[in-house]
Amino acid sequence: MKLSLSLISFLAVAGVGAFAPYRATPSHLAPTSSSSSTSLNQFGKLGFDASNLYYTPEEEQAIQTQNKISAYLIELRSKRENKNTVLRSNLGKTVLISGFEPTDPSASEVLDFLNDEDSPHFGFSKIVVIAPDLKVAKKRLIGRNARYTGLLDKLDFIEGESSSSIPTVEQLADVSSWISHVGGGDNMMSQLASIADVAEKAVGVKNVAILISGANGVGVDAIKEAEDMLKSKATTFAYTLLIVPEWNNEPEALCAYGIANASDLDSAPFKEGETFSREESLRILTECLAIDQAAGKCVVANAAKETNSLENMLIQSMREIGFKRIEEVEHMVTVGAKGYTGMIAERESGSAWEMAPEPSDEEKAGWAKTKEEQDEINRQKQLEIRKQNDLKKMATEWAQREYLRKQLKFHVNLSEEEFIEVIWDRAMFEADLKYRTMQGQAVNESEERKKFKEAQERKKLEAYKKEQERWKKLQMEDLEPAEEKKPINFSRF
Ligand SMILES: *[C@@H]1O[C@H](CO)[C@@H](O)[C@H](O)[C@H]1NC(C)=O
Ligand SMILES: *[C@@H]1O[C@H](CO)[C@@H](O)[C@H](O)[C@H]1NC(C)=O
Ligand SMILES: *[C@@H]1O[C@H](CO)[C@@H](O)[C@H](O)[C@H]1NC(C)=O
Ligand SMILES: *[C@@H]1O[C@H](CO)[C@@H](O)[C@H](O)[C@H]1NC(C)=O
Repeated sequence: MKLSLSLISFLAVAGVGAFAPYRATPSHLAPTSSSSSTSLNQFGKLGFDASNLYYTPEEEQAIQTQNKISAYLIELRSKRENKNTVLRSNLGKTVLISGFEPTDPSASEVLDFLNDEDSPHFGFSKIVVIAPDLKVAKKRLIGRNARYTGLLDKLDFIEGESSSSIPTVEQLADVSSWISHVGGGDNMMSQLASIADVAEKAVGVKNVAILISGANGVGVDAIKEAEDMLKSKATTFAYTLLIVPEWNNEPEALCAYGIANASDLDSAPFKEGETFSREESLRILTECLAIDQAAGKCVVANAAKETNSLENMLIQSMREIGFKRIEEVEHMVTVGAKGYTGMIAERESGSAWEMAPEPSDEEKAGWAKTKEEQDEINRQKQLEIRKQNDLKKMATEWAQREYLRKQLKFHVNLSEEEFIEVIWDRAMFEADLKYRTMQGQAVNESEERKKFKEAQERKKLEAYKKEQERWKKLQMEDLEPAEEKKPINFSRF
């Protein structure tokens, strides 16, 4: 059956699926048919060679495929019964994380995802971390943001022999959800078995999401064995197993990725030296914990760097259409490239897959509007992220310079890191002033400095009592650097 042509050409005209990495050609020049005679005879007419404004046949092919994929995704979405991702109803209030080394960035990243205000699907009021050295763990995981993001109120710690210790059934008494990280080394299988055994015995535990990283050396048989083991042991809880190669430091949502069912593998999924974004793997893992359809899934994820790969195109299209991250993860885990290929095959054999009726003009206008709005939102988000990064960088530089100056003058008995933490609000204020000045925005410096100072005074007073209470509750005296007990005399700075 034919894919709705009017839908495809509409998408092409609306720029959906316009292929970013290619030449900066205005989208209205993008050909909507697969004709390869695109360079036309423009040379004489325009007085310059316009042929490089057009696409090569390979590029055109890619655009065609990309547009087809966008059409497929929009159609799938419009036919879905549940417009939003169905979430698990039994995530509960307490999540435990195990297997994360507090000194590794993964530990704070997984906490950030679980405590993200943009992820209202996580209603956890308590996040329990298992760690061998509570002092180190607290110091590492309670950053200067913890007070403002509310993480401080949620965090709780329990001591284990190592960060990969499996909690006891007693320690899991109040836990409803569990996120665990396991290395892909020799004791991978025994770790998995212990997790499954103790989760099975802990009656409150309803959901377990397990991430195996560094699985480059893990063969297909071991992966299938792991899946079978979970399947046979888990009767009182829902599991998701995600397997990835060695981690790298790329931020999430930068690279496209592919996901395959463990049961569909016929050879080892990763090559030696292959890596995958740590942050992305944690995003996929945490979203899977919430996604109802991800229950009982054992999947492998890997980067899809080839721009022409199906996985890459699926992800590009989803991001352009405006899928939320949780929707993207849901689609990749439950349908993926396999689902798309299957649909194409079904269409070619002429069976099943009813076409959606031709979209009405209103629907088309609606899509264009949604896409435009989503583009604008994404653009604003990107700008805001960039601005915040710039500000943080400027503030850090300001604080480092200030530290050097104070150090020369007063021999401040604080490490640079501690100094920056103490002076951070001021540093951000200075950075913001500078940023706006550089942008040519109106800045009334003396007035703003006065206001800032007043606000800081008020904040200090308000925060003082509250902080004392909270810090006591968390036995923060372990954590508090000695010099903070003696208040720092800010008027010296
Ligand atoms: C996993 O397998 C199911 C059943 O064959 C299939 O529908 C789905 O698309 C597969 N998922 C992925 C990510 O390949
Ligand atoms: C600076 O701090 C260290 C340990 O934090 C302490 O041993 C030392 O006496 C302090 N020096 C001064 C001058 O306060
Ligand atoms: C800055 O604000 C103060 C107080 O509002 C005002 O007196 C002063 O004129 C302002 N300066 C400029 C340059 O606008
Ligand atoms: C803080 O430092 C200022 C200036 O050095 C000084 O006048 C003031 O008495 C100090 N305050 C305290 C509480 O030590």
